[in-house]
Amino acid sequence: MDYASHEVPVTTGVRTVQRPPFSARYVLLAFAFLLQLQLSPVPSAVAAGEIMICNYEKFNLFDSMYRPRTEQFCVFSDVYLGPDVKGTDFLASSLDYKRVAFTNSKFTQVPPSLFKNFDDIRELYVRRCSLESLKVTRQLEKVYAGGNRIASVQLDGNASNSLRELYLDGNRMRALANLTNLPNLEVLVLENNPLLGDVDLAQFERMEHLWKLDLERIGMTKVQNGLQRPLAALKRLDLSNNALTYVHVRMFRTFPRLEHLWLHGNRLYFLEADQLPLMMPSVRSIVIDDNYWGCGHLAVLGQQLRDRGIVIRHGECRTRAVHRVCCSDVTEVVDFRYIIEMGVRREGRLEQDLRELRTVTGLLRQDLERLRHRMGELSANLTNRLTGPATTDGDPDQAVSKESSAVGATSDGSAEESYEEDSRSN
Ligand SMILES: *[C@@H]1O[C@H](CO)[C@@H](O)[C@H](O)[C@H]1NC(C)=O
Ligand SMILES: *[C@@H]1O[C@H](CO)[C@@H](O)[C@H](O)[C@H]1NC(C)=O
Ligand SMILES: *[C@@H]1O[C@H](CO)[C@@H](O)[C@H](O)[C@H]1NC(C)=O
Repeated sequence: MDYASHEVPVTTGVRTVQRPPFSARYVLLAFAFLLQLQLSPVPSAVAAGEIMICNYEKFNLFDSMYRPRTEQFCVFSDVYLGPDVKGTDFLASSLDYKRVAFTNSKFTQVPPSLFKNFDDIRELYVRRCSLESLKVTRQLEKVYAGGNRIASVQLDGNASNSLRELYLDGNRMRALANLTNLPNLEVLVLENNPLLGDVDLAQFERMEHLWKLDLERIGMTKVQNGLQRPLAALKRLDLSNNALTYVHVRMFRTFPRLEHLWLHGNRLYFLEADQLPLMMPSVRSIVIDDNYWGCGHLAVLGQQLRDRGIVIRHGECRTRAVHRVCCSDVTEVVDFRYIIEMGVRREGRLEQDLRELRTVTGLLRQDLERLRHRMGELSANLTNRLTGPATTDGDPDQAVSKESSAVGATSDGSAEESYEEDSRSN
């Protein structure tokens, strides 16, 4: 998003209307600085009604690829707030700063006054601040909120946010319900939220620009993918260090550009590589270290992957290994588990087949009864024709119909009755 270009006309226009004149603001800021100087240089606790000033400085952080990045941020340090965060005012020598960071600070939520004062904020860095909830305002583009205790996230506006990168690693998220409407999101890091559990990949459906999804260590036991349409931008998917026992390659068919898949640190013992070229045409690495591989299967799988130029490991194995990926020779156990798993899948399949068969049988039975009815009529008509009056004058069809209607009340009635009994007993 090119906010530099539209920033000048839009935001200054808003500012002059909503804010006090600049001179008044500078007096206020100067006063705030003096206040700050007179107080202890490092306030250890902030009482209600206090003013905090940030320091505009070079700040080191990591980008979405874990590369070190240095950027000018306005940094608040040592901000300690109790449950009532409303009383504190957050200021800077310029309120136009777009990047704000908190270091060595502690509060359960980002004080709302921060967003009021820094109304053009694009990046917020609140790592390790003991946050319990997180509010994402409309114009925030990058939020670094790892290492907190966040269990709930609120979004301002519905789907009208600008969020491109969200880092929520090391928190206490239990559900993603509030995080599905992020249409501009490119990077989502949920690593190490062990209470999250099984997440359906369909929840990321609206994130059409998502290229990096990190679901490491979230307590996932199976891959669920109810996506109705592909996530065409996704290139990196991390499912490592979960409790996955079986992953079907077909699960990844909705990510046609997927290049890197991390599956290490799970309980996998089987993977079909045959369908890989079809399901994952762009894949370059599938990290499979540290699973429950039997050496026999791993030898075949590893070879199949390596033949396609796919990288399969990120560490060395010091025990029994094939293709330098650890494995076990207790293959009977592994094979047994695989057979059970496949058996369960077949059983599910069988049940569905049975249901379908039952429906078909029902329809067939109805057809059969209709046929029987017709047969009964035909044979009755035939009997009538054979046993009825010998003289047939004129049209034979007419004769037949006349006869049957005549006999219908007598001998034909018994035939019908016996048929009906027959159909009832079936
Ligand atoms: C979801 O958002 C609503 C409204 O913003 C909020 O009340 C609720 O606590 C949030 N839930 C979670 C789990 O984040
Ligand atoms: C948000 O928008 C989506 C569609 O984009 C809609 O399905 C959902 O109900 C909306 N949620 C709220 C709370 O308005
Ligand atoms: C049998 O005869 C009756 C009466 O004549 C007629 O309505 C009916 O269509 C006939 N049934 C068949 C199967 O031809």
